[in-house]
Amino acid sequence: MKARRSVLVASLLVVGAALPASAPVAASGGEHRRSPAIDQPLREHGQRVGLRIGTAVDMAAFNNDTEYRNRIAVEFSAVTAENVMKWGELERVQGQPDYTLADQLVASARANRQKVHGHTLLWHNQLPQWLTDGVTSGDIDAAELRALLRKHIFEVAGHFRGKIWHWDVVNEVIDDSGNLRDTIFLRLLGPGYIADAFRWAHQADPHAELYLNDYNLEFPGAKSDAYYALVQQLLAQRVPVDGLGAQGHLGIQFGLPSTLDTYNNLRRFELLGLEISFTEVDIRMILPTDQYRTQAQAQGFSGLLTACLLLERCEMFTFWGFTDKYNWVPGFFTDPPEGDATMLNEDFTPKPAYREMQAILALAA
Ligand code: G3I
Repeated sequence: MKARRSVLVASLLVVGAALPASAPVAASGGEHRRSPAIDQPLREHGQRVGLRIGTAVDMAAFNNDTEYRNRIAVEFSAVTAENVMKWGELERVQGQPDYTLADQLVASARANRQKVHGHTLLWHNQLPQWLTDGVTSGDIDAAELRALLRKHIFEVAGHFRGKIWHWDVVNEVIDDSGNLRDTIFLRLLGPGYIADAFRWAHQADPHAELYLNDYNLEFPGAKSDAYYALVQQLLAQRVPVDGLGAQGHLGIQFGLPSTLDTYNNLRRFELLGLEISFTEVDIRMILPTDQYRTQAQAQGFSGLLTACLLLERCEMFTFWGFTDKYNWVPGFFTDPPEGDATMLNEDFTPKPAYREMQAILALAA
């Protein structure tokens, strides 16, 4: 099936077929009735080509917005906790982890036949305040930090044992220059903390596939090359690394990677034996938006999805939110204001990006 989709998609690239972003308008002025084969939820299209289509889930929206919750069930076959599985959200009070919202998401995923992509066991952001304060004050030294990290990974991966498809074991551990990111973990524990995290996660849950996850891996460069060297080193040390997560956070103002650049950059990790997932795809723009920016966004989403379909072991294509009604971008990019980063409008109506991806998935089947 996957080989077949690669042939189909490769021919799409070769002939340069420009998929209609939306159905051609009939002579009568109304929109052509879309082929039922195309106008289906993304998860249904994905199932035909062995690809799980996912979304990050904002648990406040999940519990307060029925349409948001229902759309997740209909549209997606994988879910990622946007925040509630992060250390700072799980263990606000040291020694008193609260899994309520994370457990709710896992239970909902089970009911909706969705797989759970765990995010994330180790990140330098959203750490508990008591941890960062302790390191800053010196109360938590290197030995204590290593013990706390080991305890955290065993507790969290153990709590969800057997229920997590993939874990983002480490998130964003290399900077854009290709150096190991300067974090409290690197400073106090040395570069070996990465291998340790993977070994502890595998011991805690041997069922989970274990990922490195980062942004700006959608195109070649120093960062991608550094990850390639890191993966080779970890595999040589027989560290249990299974996959690479390319986050896919793009902005049209920076230009969009070519499909073949993305494919070639990630294909080399497959040749090392890794599976690939696109883990956090969104494509933001400087506001106000217009039809040209929205069309560029559609091309950006489609380019990443096409690269995924061309790869042999691309398992998951996950959006970092699916509606502009709930999205992290406006709160983080304010000058100039950015937003409109997802494939559905605030009222859940589709943008060209959504239609384009339905068509590409329909073609690939
Ligand atoms: O939970 C607290 C709440 O108690 C408090 O009242 C509130 C107001 O201060 O803040 C809440 O925490 C916020 C958290 O989201 C949960 O809503 C943080 O302030 C806010 O900074 C945090 O933003 C998240 C961001 O990661 C943190 O860097 C975004 O929602 C989330 O989408 C974003 O996701 C990251 C991925 O995890 C990793 N890849 C990049 C991606 C985008 O930055």
